[in-house]
Amino acid sequence: MSSSIRVGLLGCGVVGGATARILLEHADTVSQKAGVRVDLARIAVRSLSKQREISLPPETYTTDPWEVVGDPNIDVIVEAMGGIEPALDLILHAIRSGKHVVTANKELLSTLGREVMAAADEAGVDVLFEASVAGGIPIVRPMKESLAGDRVKRVMGIVNGTTNYILTQMSETGVSFTEALGQAEELGYTELDPSSDIEGFDAASKIAILASIAFGARVVAGDVHREGISKVTAADVDAAHQLGYEVKLLAVAEIEDGQVAVRVHPAMLPRTHPLASVRDVYNAVFVEAEEVGELMFLGRGAGGPPTASAVVGDIVELARNIKSESRSPGSAYYREPAHIKAQDEVGVRYYVVLSVQDQPGVLSSVAGMFAHHGISIASVRQEGFGDQASLVLITHHATEAQHAATFGDLEQLDAVKSVGSRMRVEGTSES
Ligand SMILES: NC(=O)c1ccc[n+]([C@@H]2O[C@H](COP(=O)([O-])OP(=O)(O)OC[C@H]3O[C@@H](n4cnc5c(N)ncnc54)[C@H](OP(=O)(O)O)[C@@H]3O)[C@@H](O)[C@H]2O)c1
Repeated sequence: MSSSIRVGLLGCGVVGGATARILLEHADTVSQKAGVRVDLARIAVRSLSKQREISLPPETYTTDPWEVVGDPNIDVIVEAMGGIEPALDLILHAIRSGKHVVTANKELLSTLGREVMAAADEAGVDVLFEASVAGGIPIVRPMKESLAGDRVKRVMGIVNGTTNYILTQMSETGVSFTEALGQAEELGYTELDPSSDIEGFDAASKIAILASIAFGARVVAGDVHREGISKVTAADVDAAHQLGYEVKLLAVAEIEDGQVAVRVHPAMLPRTHPLASVRDVYNAVFVEAEEVGELMFLGRGAGGPPTASAVVGDIVELARNIKSESRSPGSAYYREPAHIKAQDEVGVRYYVVLSVQDQPGVLSSVAGMFAHHGISIASVRQEGFGDQASLVLITHHATEAQHAATFGDLEQLDAVKSVGSRMRVEGTSES
């Protein structure tokens, strides 16, 4: 074995740049923790003329990432380019050349994780991806290692900082979704096209990765039932407050009857739930396991330094493995597809607002319709009167299909003018 571990970096942007800086500035700590010197050997970028936050000899850089993955002196490839291609081909080439890989690429792992992990198993190398979920929060390693002997029942997370910032603004200042999105854009919290965050695609990728590890079987982003926050109104947030709830974009993965139910959607959470107090761009993952009970991991889910902190942690683990000729825990969770529970069959609770006629018997006809579909009502409150009368209900647990059928049939009742806002309720002792 050589006297140092040589790292090749693909990409030197937000994450890659901070990774390079930490490797240089914390070189002594990193080498001490790894038990071997860790050298940043080569960096692939798109543009050689761009100003970088670190100063390295020009020959460190190349615009040809194949040169880096093909370099026989490099032991570890850090993929911080993003996207599917050419990242996938480069990672596969690195793996097949016997190099270990660290990646922050949730998009790639949540769609093609199986291909990457199968290649790694075949080549006898490791692929580590702590930074791909919730940036700087250590969640992948605790789930893979610390909870290896437990049975995870549910993982519930706020895993997208942009949407959490928007919902925090709506909650704390009463602004509309559009105004809060504008503020997020001004602060640089959004991508050029914000839809990946707003419509829940980013959170879906992350919960697919977490669900795969939590339940030991492959879940891909396409398995995730997904709804974004663009339809959440200031009135919904206000109604949630009146009931003692906060609105959050939740990513939920749980095991029900041996099947994995996995979804991303806005939900009302009781203010007493630990996730309800996660504000601004912070992320948090709440894990419930059979033996350990409830755990929460909180921190910065994005940004260069937090994400790079996770990347460097993975580099150190790989350097130790190389030195001790060992491997990290295997990637069995990517081998077999998980049995995914159809969203229609998933048990949920709902908050729903019905605009109703202000006349005797309304409540009993509404309650009768819920009962007809096998749903019991946890709470009901009447608001307004005359033309403005409405009923605000929270249901007990029943399937999505039961709720959908009930909402459809309620519209047909003479007493009900319309079925208004509705939102799932999570984080109660029942859910
Ligand atoms: N940003 C975050 O907070 C965050 C958090 C968690 C995970 N991630 C993930 O980390 C990855 C990187 O994200 P990022 O925000 O760091 O992206 P970024 O700032 O856009 O950086 C991408 C880097 O890759 C280089 N690059 C892109 N295509 C290339 C090519 N074909 N050949 C050579 N170099 C190429 C770019 O070169 P130039 O510099 O020359 O343009 C740039 O340095 C993504 O998978 C992302 O999902 C990001």
